[in-house]
Amino acid sequence: MADEFSALRTTNGIIAEQSARPESMRADALVVFLTEGGIGSGAIATMDTSTGGLLSRLVADGELTGKRYECVPLFAAPGLQASQLVVVGLGKREDLDAGTLFRAAATASRHLASRLRTRVVMVADGSWTSRQIEQAVAGAAVGMVGQDLYRTEKKRTRFGSTIWVGASFEAVERGTIIADGVNLARRLVNTSPEDLYPQTFSEEAAAVAGRTGLEVEIWDEKRLLHERCNAILAVGRGSSRAPRLVILRYQGLENRPRGEESGPDIALVGKGVTFDSGGLSLKPSDSMITMKCDMAGGAAMLAAAATIAKLKLPINIVAAIGLAENMTGSAAYKLGDVITARNGTTIEVHNTDAEGRLVLADVLDVVRGLKPRRIVDAATLTGACMVALGCDVAGLFTNNQPWCDAVAAAARSAGEPVWQLPMYADYDEHIRGDIADIKNVGDGRWGGAITAAKFLERFVGEIPWTHIDIAGPAFAEKPRPWTDGGGTGAMVRAMVELARIPE
Ligand code: BES
Ligand code: MN
Ligand code: ZN
Repeated sequence: MADEFSALRTTNGIIAEQSARPESMRADALVVFLTEGGIGSGAIATMDTSTGGLLSRLVADGELTGKRYECVPLFAAPGLQASQLVVVGLGKREDLDAGTLFRAAATASRHLASRLRTRVVMVADGSWTSRQIEQAVAGAAVGMVGQDLYRTEKKRTRFGSTIWVGASFEAVERGTIIADGVNLARRLVNTSPEDLYPQTFSEEAAAVAGRTGLEVEIWDEKRLLHERCNAILAVGRGSSRAPRLVILRYQGLENRPRGEESGPDIALVGKGVTFDSGGLSLKPSDSMITMKCDMAGGAAMLAAAATIAKLKLPINIVAAIGLAENMTGSAAYKLGDVITARNGTTIEVHNTDAEGRLVLADVLDVVRGLKPRRIVDAATLTGACMVALGCDVAGLFTNNQPWCDAVAAAARSAGEPVWQLPMYADYDEHIRGDIADIKNVGDGRWGGAITAAKFLERFVGEIPWTHIDIAGPAFAEKPRPWTDGGGTGAMVRAMVELARIPE
């Protein structure tokens, strides 16, 4: 299996070539990017000249439109040493952002990775910002990796080498490290839940920590009991695989004098339900089929922490991932059970399929004890969030608007779409318990993404906190131009960007 973050420059084969002329480079393929509305100027115009006006003729004929993710291979193009020229559409120039570049580059490399390619040249345009170049580099490295971890004959093969022309060494290196993080999260999500359960996830986390220099702490069942993490334990009780809590630490800033506030700058919290059957409130098969993805928030936070460490960002981070398997075994938690969460809140269980918020309740309380300046969590929490925002947009919820704005800005700058939903106090009524403090579902199904967030809010105290519901974007049920489907690595890029925003 792929070892992300291992000996980067020698094995990944991604190289920056600032001064080379793409037309004179031997390669299996040369990839250039075209926006709508014609050739214009920049790298694509240079390529048009090199090919004796081939590209402008094809644009005039309507064969090349520059529409988003259009991917047109041109064989035996005149004036080039490469075997083929792939023209990828970016859509309207004024709409161009990092997300479009990530997906467009991934579209090209996904297409080319259907066969073995020794050498692929990608041409960055001079008008792109360094963030945009990074995301294009990352997209190209993510697109050539498929989801078929277990298929005997893989559908995608990584390129022998990728050469980026017109991009700085630093941007290419950072983009490659970011891609490693995204691919790590994707691999964990795509792994069979028979192979990835709380214990093996925690072992993966320890291995990643070893490769990237993170400090790691793993709480097993005994420790969870000792720490009164009854909500995590309740969710895990129906499974033969015991829960775990993984805590990762990264110190990018040693000994900063900050008086009493010596806690981490950011706590990254992830939902790691390695399989969600729904428990006794059993899911129908159609909804259960993708539920190996229910640890995607945890995978994203592990991958983000590893990437932040690899990039040596000047920040102190803690990541905490609550791991449990939600099953129906004879000891399974039941409807009507009352759980005393770690912070003392009593919770009535009205639906065992609303398990993510129970796991997070204890993780958030553990993290709160570490006194972070801010908390952000990622969780595949509610189908209701997908009803609200669709499959590609994550929901944001917060108790602190400036912190939510920072999370939203980071996500957008990295090219990951997010949208905030309200947290009016009136929603608190919906989760009031009859015999205990709160219940784990709202009254009826309306506003389900918000009532779930309102539940989480009870466990963060006064610390600025933003919750990201990634039920939609974490997993692609169908292939798209830029991915074969499966785990997407949602929020890895956003969290890395968040760690780069000053204060
Ligand atoms: N893991 C699911 C949410 C989910 C749904 C993630 C679809 C990804 C795709 C979560 O644990 C869940 O089952 N939520 C319930 C909550 C309900 C019982 C209040 C839901 O959304 O139906
Ligand atoms: Mn569930
Ligand atoms: Zn779940």
